[in-house]
Amino acid sequence: MREFQGHFKEAMRTSVPLLDHITRYIVRSRGKQMRPLLVYLSASASGGTQERTHIAATLIELLHTATLVHDDVVDAAETRRGFLSINALWKSKIAVLVGDYLLSRGLLISMENEGIDLLRITSKAVEAMSEGELLQIEKARRLDITEEVYFEIIRRKTASLIAACCSAGAASAGADAERIELLRSFGEEMGIAFQIKDDLLDFTPAANTGKPLGGDIKERKMTLPLIHTLQSLGKGKRRSLIRRIKRSADHPGEAESVLNEILAGSGMAYAEEKMRHHRDRAIALLQDLPDGEARRSLEALVDFTISRTK
Ligand code: IPE
Ligand code: IPE
Ligand code: MG
Ligand code: MG
Repeated sequence: MREFQGHFKEAMRTSVPLLDHITRYIVRSRGKQMRPLLVYLSASASGGTQERTHIAATLIELLHTATLVHDDVVDAAETRRGFLSINALWKSKIAVLVGDYLLSRGLLISMENEGIDLLRITSKAVEAMSEGELLQIEKARRLDITEEVYFEIIRRKTASLIAACCSAGAASAGADAERIELLRSFGEEMGIAFQIKDDLLDFTPAANTGKPLGGDIKERKMTLPLIHTLQSLGKGKRRSLIRRIKRSADHPGEAESVLNEILAGSGMAYAEEKMRHHRDRAIALLQDLPDGEARRSLEALVDFTISRTK
């Protein structure tokens, strides 16, 4: 990971002053870097990291960063990682272009380094992420979403990239198709647990995410705790809750009342149970890997994912 910092910084260098200013800001406000870590651990568990593993890790963190910059425009979020978001500081116009820049930097770096297989894995993930985000927007408009559709959304918008970390890491180490597929499925299960946790943290007052509390309510994002809460209500109360969600974007008091209603019911506990189920499936898949430091670290990373507060 120490080496990774150098690769990542280098990948973002540019001679355009405004862009350079912004990419430096992004490097300074870095996140947990779980995705590159997953790339390295998946490579280690599949024969050992190679020069190509750095390319895969850099490419994926660039794509991830690009999607966050765009996601904050889409969600009109003012903070990210405890700092002001790019759209809050430089406006959406610039944030859209910076996201495009990061995305194309990632693609170019893998092209220049003969990483066509890595490019195939990650491009598929980026396609799925866009589909997931658009499906989510469609559902936010109508506020009608089933648990099944929720899982479909998070599988595409989040789990696809985490699965790509694991399969690209394994591919970079020269693993065979069976090993690549095993790690891909592991990443998918872990990614689903990861997004359920992200959605739980959005409603957790004591969390330390650096993102606005209850932001998902204002954005009309129908996440699992909310879906379960709605399902458990009678028709009248459900209508009233939906009405308050619709008003919440312009009335902070409504957002708070929706949040309190979710926290008072069983939605949080229900989502936690589902998260644990996917955590267990991820851990079970790892049992087919050879025992060793890499496997144990992957297990620890899954448990970090579901217990984190940021
Ligand atoms: C945030 O991902 C976006 C989601 C898919 C929920 P992370 O929580 O991994 O973001 P950083 O990079 O650590 O900030
Ligand atoms: C994940 O969803 C976003 C991406 C896949 C880019 P969220 O909208 O919940 O992510 P956060 O909470 O803003 O990080
Ligand atoms: Mg968001
Ligand atoms: Mg979120």
